[in-house]
Amino acid sequence: MSVSGKTIVLTGSSSGIGEQAAYQLARKGARLCLVARREDELKRVQQAIIAEGGKAWVYPADLTDEAGLQSVADRILAEHDRVDVLVNNAARSIRRPISQALDRLHDYQRTMNINYVAAVGLTLKLLPRMLAQGRGQVVNISTLSSQVPIPLFSAYLASKTALESFSRSLLAEMGDQGIDVTVVYYPMVRTPMSSQTSIYKHMPMMTPDKAAGWIVKAVDEGPARVGSLMGTAGSIALAALPGPVTRYTQPLFRLMDKKLGQKARQ
Ligand SMILES: NC(=O)c1ccc[n+]([C@@H]2O[C@H](COP(=O)([O-])OP(=O)(O)OC[C@H]3O[C@@H](n4cnc5c(N)ncnc54)[C@H](OP(=O)(O)O)[C@@H]3O)[C@@H](O)[C@H]2O)c1
Repeated sequence: MSVSGKTIVLTGSSSGIGEQAAYQLARKGARLCLVARREDELKRVQQAIIAEGGKAWVYPADLTDEAGLQSVADRILAEHDRVDVLVNNAARSIRRPISQALDRLHDYQRTMNINYVAAVGLTLKLLPRMLAQGRGQVVNISTLSSQVPIPLFSAYLASKTALESFSRSLLAEMGDQGIDVTVVYYPMVRTPMSSQTSIYKHMPMMTPDKAAGWIVKAVDEGPARVGSLMGTAGSIALAALPGPVTRYTQPLFRLMDKKLGQKARQ
């Protein structure tokens, strides 16, 4: 496995982790297909890549719009002979207690639409090319919070867990046909997404640059999972003892939120 020369479709590359991953992958010789809604931001990233001698193309689209997704997939397939890697990174997060979402079914629909349906949709469109090539990789971006019982993100976490489940099925069904599947489990990363929550201002977080390195590792090495020891330990504990692990960790999360809230108000 290596990055150089690969054509990589990277969604959510107009900001945050996706933007930094685009730079790092391009520096290693990948050809980047940049996908997100904001064309001007995608062009800014493209120009920065080209200025460093890299190769990038922009494909603006709202991936929750089926026609938009279809047309982006068609364009990518028409303009590139190979599609080696798809990184499903575009997402939205919602932090809201279930008790405040009782009349907000749309929270669950919106997160599902971009974090799950759009990722699966683009995968289904690009898979035939990967199968025809005899090789391909799908990298799905998830979160450490699906490996431990974190409160307040029910809509977001359900959509990410659905994507993880799809990833397992994809690997189980097509791994022997040359399709590698990697799930990346990020801890908190300092990006526009995490900055929406003001109390997280004082929380130690990974830098987007370091986080981008995890996507490079995923493409470079092709493992089934890229994540932290804490996440692996959390998923083992949760699988073994879901009741106690969920019940007894909740006071800790509430305390952490309280302390962060106090710091933010100081
Ligand atoms: N930041 C964290 O703490 C953290 C932690 C764990 C996991 N993650 C995951 O890491 C990934 C990157 O997140 P980030 O923190 O870098 O967030 P970000 O800076 O908010 O980036 C999100 C990206 O998704 C794109 N996007 C959103 N809705 C879209 C749509 N409907 N169609 C097309 N593109 C869309 C945005 O571009 P446009 O607005 O231009 O469309 C943007 O490029 C996500 O999958 C996130 O769930 C982040």
